[in-house]
Amino acid sequence: MSSIKILAIETSCDESAAAIVSLDPSGNAFVLSSVISSQVELHAEWGGVVPNLAAREHLKNLPLVVEKSLKESRAKISDITALAVTNGPGLIPALLIGTEFAKTLAYRWDKPLLGIHHIEGHICANFIGSVSGGQFPVSVKNPSASIQNSQLKTENSFPGFPALCLVVSGGHTQLVLMREHFQYEIIGQTLDDAAGEAFDKVARILDIGYPGGPAVAARAANFQNPNVKCQIKSRRQYDENDDRPQTADDKSFFAKKYEVSLPRPMLNKKNFDFSFSGLKTAVLYETKKHPELLKEERYVNEICHEFQQAAIDVLVAKTIKAAAKYKPQTIMLAGGVSANMELRQQLGAAIKKNLPGVLYRIPDLALTGDNAAMIGAAAVLRWQKMNISQKEKASNSWKTLQTDANLKL
Ligand code: KG4
Ligand code: ZN
Repeated sequence: MSSIKILAIETSCDESAAAIVSLDPSGNAFVLSSVISSQVELHAEWGGVVPNLAAREHLKNLPLVVEKSLKESRAKISDITALAVTNGPGLIPALLIGTEFAKTLAYRWDKPLLGIHHIEGHICANFIGSVSGGQFPVSVKNPSASIQNSQLKTENSFPGFPALCLVVSGGHTQLVLMREHFQYEIIGQTLDDAAGEAFDKVARILDIGYPGGPAVAARAANFQNPNVKCQIKSRRQYDENDDRPQTADDKSFFAKKYEVSLPRPMLNKKNFDFSFSGLKTAVLYETKKHPELLKEERYVNEICHEFQQAAIDVLVAKTIKAAAKYKPQTIMLAGGVSANMELRQQLGAAIKKNLPGVLYRIPDLALTGDNAAMIGAAAVLRWQKMNISQKEKASNSWKTLQTDANLKL
């Protein structure tokens, strides 16, 4: 049996991405190339992703990105076993460019085509691990960046099911229980805004930049460890019980505190659902109480820190509570917000403290945002499980594959 190579495409939001993922006869899978062209600078001007602009950019970038991924992987078209593309959920104009492009290639090259759920891709990013010497120099800048020679954790080498996955992206916040690959039970989810959406909206309220998640995280980190002496007069003197770290080089630094305090929505509810819309509104009310303070960097940093901590407190507490009930062997983190260092660290610490023996997997930082390597990872794992008639059916997907903005996991 020769090795399988899948060309994967992702265009569900504002990244045009392509990757080649291979599976060798002994069941080892590798990411041979992963190319991402981000539109973040284009959409920053508008403060959010503009679907039709995104589609126009995908149309321009996708052929180049696919070509580059093929070149970097050294795979020829004749080496490609099948194609895979994100067919939902996401922005319809953006999804359509990727799926129509993939369908055209599948027809032209006479290859099977797999439609992959975007969140399945994010979850599968956890099964990609770097092998020694593997590189992850991915940035979000154009023209593109690459991940090469990352080994995938295939079924036999996966640490263990059942697995509980906390999915946190711009469009989703879900606790997903997996008893095996591709079996998903959603045991909790947000009732309104997704976690990433709340980060983005808070950044907009505070006018601190786009994309919001990294901007809020950076300000929160600044609050915890300010490296400049704060000149701002506060309403309260430094409290000796305040455990925020002081700068190493300025022991006399006294952090000022504005006593921003935000709610932890749904924290004490028995279910595993979330709600972030009220938390975002609480930030809005806080800023309306003290509009004059918004000019003060320290105040804005403190809001970011408190908001981020409130979101993390709820995400971590619900995950631990769900794990206590469902007893997974592994807990995973997935989606764009899984790039948040505090969330990564605090969830890990809570698992270690409360659930000894439970494994904790987080995707490589380079694979937290939207990329095609994760779509390829899902596709090779699926391909491995497909029987002949399913593979034959995939040969007709160029005619039948549909996009769905609200595709269910
Ligand atoms: O998965 P993703 O790239 O796109 C969707 O599938 O939605 O997630 C994007 C989300 C955005 O809301 C972004 O602000 C958030 O992930 N994000 C972060 C961080 N990096 C990206 N949120 C918090 N902290 C971060 N470091
Ligand atoms: Zn995503």
